[in-house]
Amino acid sequence: MVQNWTPNSWRQKPIQQVPDFPDMAALAAAEAQLATYPPLVFAGEARRLKSQLANVSEGKGFLLQGGDCAESFAEHGADTIRDFFRAFLQMAVVLTFGAQQPVVKVGRIAGQFAKPRSSNIEKQGDVELPSYRGDIINGIEFTEKARIPDPERQIMAYRQSAATLNLLRAFAMGGYANLDNVHQWMLGFVKESPQAERYRKLADRISETMDFMKAIGITPESNPSLRETDFFTSHEALLLGYEQALTRVDSTSGDWYATSGHMIWIGDRTRQADHAHIEYCRGIKNPLGLKCGPSLTADGLIELIDLLNPQNEAGRLTLICRFGHDKVAENLPRLIRAVEKEGRKVVWSCDPMHGNTITLNNYKTRPFERILSEVESFFQIHRAEGTHPGGIHIEMTGNDVTECTGGARALSGADLADRYHTHCDPRLNADQALELAFLLAERMKGGRDEKRMVVNG
Ligand code: TRP
Ligand code: MN
Repeated sequence: MVQNWTPNSWRQKPIQQVPDFPDMAALAAAEAQLATYPPLVFAGEARRLKSQLANVSEGKGFLLQGGDCAESFAEHGADTIRDFFRAFLQMAVVLTFGAQQPVVKVGRIAGQFAKPRSSNIEKQGDVELPSYRGDIINGIEFTEKARIPDPERQIMAYRQSAATLNLLRAFAMGGYANLDNVHQWMLGFVKESPQAERYRKLADRISETMDFMKAIGITPESNPSLRETDFFTSHEALLLGYEQALTRVDSTSGDWYATSGHMIWIGDRTRQADHAHIEYCRGIKNPLGLKCGPSLTADGLIELIDLLNPQNEAGRLTLICRFGHDKVAENLPRLIRAVEKEGRKVVWSCDPMHGNTITLNNYKTRPFERILSEVESFFQIHRAEGTHPGGIHIEMTGNDVTECTGGARALSGADLADRYHTHCDPRLNADQALELAFLLAERMKGGRDEKRMVVNG
């Protein structure tokens, strides 16, 4: 059992990134209301995810985590969710084939509403207003009224999360995730891509494998595991009042779980060892993510692991590294060596988005080449250290947006204005996300061929 912890013990600690709620009584009322609502996810599901992540930490799987930077109330349509899931599943198939290992599928979805900000204030011209902190807190419109934190938004976020999760569960278990479908979509993508020649080789091998399985009688009709998939949800546990209201005791184990999502993570801005976010997260049993940026020292990391995973339980902790394409080589090896030296069980994941944000034509953007470059360095470094590059964490959408530059369609700075829809950071569009999966799968296969040559040579 975790010592001296309660779901509200974080309230005694210093805290970063808290909104200025003007009406504390209304805030308390919303939290009290949420505490009466049903859990969004179940402890058994969180344990299932943890056991899948435990396999990843042992080198026997790959974590794919992705979704919006920030979900929004305005874009809560079935099509948006479906298109995201469709792109995500295609990535999963390609990566499963590339890794020849199970891919653990975790969305940044059904709860990803709260955003940490670098400044409390946003200035446009001469006007200064409180920063937008995500739809669960205030509105994105640049007006005084919209920017006032409103506790009712937490109720709306809960309801939207429930509806999103309901649809995702139906998609994952109800036939939409059938491997035959996903394979056909993937072939459609390859055919339309300017890089069709390059991706065709891998796509053909997947097709051959599917044909072979069919020939020997392994079909989605005869085999539920080809029709269904495990899909999990995750978000940044930033708004701790909301998290606390959804923290529940699991009746089968007696342990506390966050029931707002299967996995939650701690941001790079709120990971101070003696502060509130670490305090809250150490007491719940869900799998946790910890964002690791350039300012994290090796000792600092071990201290946080001691707090978050004192029993050294495999699958409990995923280190989500977000250094930047030009900083990963300088920062990642020292963290890997510290974790290896101390014998800590972790999943190493690469967030190639947050360290590669630049401004171009007044838009925040991320060049595809830098995203790819950070992931490639991440793989190379792990190979050199003898550790497992266990996953990626990306911001993506299933829509055809123009937010990140580059990719096979070579989006330029001038294209950004066309369909720049994000509520926060720039996301890979569906094609760019799938391209990333193809390029990584190629690289994973390359790594295996190398190993085989060493073994046979
Ligand atoms: N159930 C397996 C898995 O989730 C195979 C599978 C079925 C699958 N549908 C899928 C894999 C869609 C990726 C995408 O891995
Ligand atoms: Mn982001």
